[in-house]
Amino acid sequence: MSVEHAGAPAPHDHGRTPGGRHATGYDDDTRARLTADAQEIIARYPQARSALLPMLHLVQSQDGYVSPRGIAFCAATLGISTAEVSAVATFYTQYKRHPNGTYTVGVCTNTLCAVMGGDAIWEELSEHLGIGHDETTDDGAITLERIECNAACDYAPVVMVNWEFFDNQTPASAVDVVDRLVGGEAVAPTRGASSVCTFKEMSRVLAGFPDGRVDEGVGAGEATVRGTRLARERGWTAPSFDADEHAATPVTGQDEPGAGEERSSADRPTTTPADASPAREQRKQKSDDAKES
Ligand code: FES
Repeated sequence: MSVEHAGAPAPHDHGRTPGGRHATGYDDDTRARLTADAQEIIARYPQARSALLPMLHLVQSQDGYVSPRGIAFCAATLGISTAEVSAVATFYTQYKRHPNGTYTVGVCTNTLCAVMGGDAIWEELSEHLGIGHDETTDDGAITLERIECNAACDYAPVVMVNWEFFDNQTPASAVDVVDRLVGGEAVAPTRGASSVCTFKEMSRVLAGFPDGRVDEGVGAGEATVRGTRLARERGWTAPSFDADEHAATPVTGQDEPGAGEERSSADRPTTTPADASPAREQRKQKSDDAKES
């Protein structure tokens, strides 16, 4: 499988000049294309500066990371300073400050995945690839990351490749996935698109330019819909909720604590049936007693 866009810089280019220094700008064609894309992004927001997050993904789709020239482009296009752009880019882990590999392989080592084998997968992959967290293989193919919970605990332990799910992994299956990626094979995730795309291609989708693959592959898997299925079979429904009846009690100001004053969550107004439960009444009584003592 081709791992780069046709016409995109070579894998090791990453927006740098042949001498290795960071380029200070884009060539005319690239700049014109990025500017047209940026205008489309900006048009989605009431204020131009609100477009910064997708703009950073756009830059990554070009350079493979948030490059110095990409930061300068965002700042100039949005009318903000490069310091403001950098402040945002350094806050989120999805924005890369150095050239990323073609595939980001993220191993979930959050609590549930960790105990289900995520730690073992991480150790195996790290040793197999010879790299640690946020490091990239010498051939530029794989960037390895420890990642936090990806809301796929029902398939723990999970591995993500460019944010596509690989469910119920083992150390051996994860090694097989990265070996096939490095070998240039088209690799299918467990759910989602029929094959994983490159980091740059994924970044363009995150910038808000659909690749037309949204309906490919498996959507929600059996483990995810199991609860809904059981509820339907057994006729379980959620308690009814009358929005009018439970409209938030107007805040009078009398009952509100002053700035810095302590207040228990048991003191909040009754707005749902659960708020009127005996257990809550007990907590409220305790809170009142504590205030009086
Ligand atoms: S802990 Fe790994 S997906 Fe939730």
